Amino acid sequence: MTEVGGRVSRIDGAKQPANCSAVVGLQWGDEGKGKAVDLLAPRHDAVVRYNGGANAGHSVVVAGQRFSLHLIPSGILYPGKRAVIGNGVVVDPWKLVEELDGLAAKGVDTSGLEVSSRAHVVMPYHKIEDSVREDLLAAGAYGDNGGAIGTTRRGIGPAYAEKVQRAGAIRMKDLLDRRMLEQRVHLALELKAGMLTAWGRGKSDDERSTIEAKVIIDRAYEVGRRLAPMIRDTTLSLHGLLGGGGSILFESANGTLLDVDHGTFPFVTGSSCVVAGVGTGAGVPPMRLGRVLGIMKAYSTRVGAGPLPTELSDTTGHRIRERGREYGTTTGRPRRVGWLDLVAVKYSAMINGATGICLTLLDVLAGFDQLQIATAYRVGDDQISDFIPDAAELSRAVPVYTTVAGFSSEITSAKKLEDLPSAARAYITFVEDFVGVPVDIVSVGPGREQTIFCRD
Ligand code: GDP
Ligand code: IMO
Ligand code: MG
Repeated sequence: MTEVGGRVSRIDGAKQPANCSAVVGLQWGDEGKGKAVDLLAPRHDAVVRYNGGANAGHSVVVAGQRFSLHLIPSGILYPGKRAVIGNGVVVDPWKLVEELDGLAAKGVDTSGLEVSSRAHVVMPYHKIEDSVREDLLAAGAYGDNGGAIGTTRRGIGPAYAEKVQRAGAIRMKDLLDRRMLEQRVHLALELKAGMLTAWGRGKSDDERSTIEAKVIIDRAYEVGRRLAPMIRDTTLSLHGLLGGGGSILFESANGTLLDVDHGTFPFVTGSSCVVAGVGTGAGVPPMRLGRVLGIMKAYSTRVGAGPLPTELSDTTGHRIRERGREYGTTTGRPRRVGWLDLVAVKYSAMINGATGICLTLLDVLAGFDQLQIATAYRVGDDQISDFIPDAAELSRAVPVYTTVAGFSSEITSAKKLEDLPSAARAYITFVEDFVGVPVDIVSVGPGREQTIFCRD
């Protein structure tokens, strides 16, 4: 493929090198994708987020300083690195500005950021709708559908729903065109009038003013002008990069088991978190991917509601939560904790075609005499070896555990596999053998340097 006058002139799919990589979560999110992206970013020319929104919280620790990324790809921490928010992301533009300002205050160069003109916008009324729906579900009385999802209330589901419904949906490019913006906001507000009127009852005048058309339009136009220099057709710009021999790292948000199609529906998020989302969420064909790195922590966590078969509600769970600092990066909620569920991980590796695994937070498990790993489920009288991607059915599954030896010494300064106690090495081998995918990277602490590269 060559660039002539800024246009893609010829495409020959068979000749495209598979020189791109993807980082995907193999569990329920928070697996350490941010750290993995930070490790792989130097080998790529651009880092691209392709799904999710400000529901994500990716933490990266560089030289003892912690950065929390929500919308901006974690690769931004390398000066001048191209960091792209693809069309598949739902962008809360006010959160984006907050994040940009926060990074700038820490001295991070954000000049490499590009935002897709076709990414859909999370509007203030999407966040209200998210909360109205969650409160309604939390109030119960809706049978099997009852119970809140435990969303981040960042408007993710309603923004994706608006995109699919089309009428009244607002894309980043619409923020730059006041007339278009006015028409779309008026239409959206009319379509949501019933819900917003009900929400407005009992609210203060100040709160109600936030859903007045003029207030919304003025704020949206203003934030659009601030972001205008970054808004462009990122699909074209990425293909320009690929055409010149460049390589891209794709950063997934959330996790495979939260994927809207392949996760534990309905306790999922609104987007395609799996690697296939690269095609729709960035416009880059998945066959360009040579490496799909599946990130998994050495145990399980989940934020929000929905089944977590290996959940530990006892002192063991408490100990893992405290050692792993398992509190949400985005909402601060304590994460639910459980033993490693390899039935779930194997399923996720299959869905994503993982070529390698990055095993994180292994250090958190130090100090246990024995560790449990779910290797099958029992449902009634049946023992099953396949994951069940449905919340109601999965909630009836009881894990069947394999007990393995624990390791007592701290491993946070290990630099190579040989530095690890034999039981920790055996744990890694157990994962590889069960999942059928090699462990490429082992992470033994949040820092960049607390990493063991097993394979390049
Ligand atoms: P993400 O959403 O997948 O990027 O993961 P989060 O950043 O939300 O959560 C992972 C947490 O674990 C963050 O606080 C990381 O700094 C931290 N972390 C990552 N890898 C390790 C590790 O190997 N050991 C420990 N102790 N912490 C880690
Ligand atoms: P990262 O990228 C963990 C969960 C929410 C909730 C469900 C739906 O940091 O791994 P949503 O607000 O998306 O409609 O919520 O999905 N969830 C996450 N859990 N990590 C995440 O992102 C998540 N993004 C969404 O807690 O259960
Ligand atoms: Mg996270």
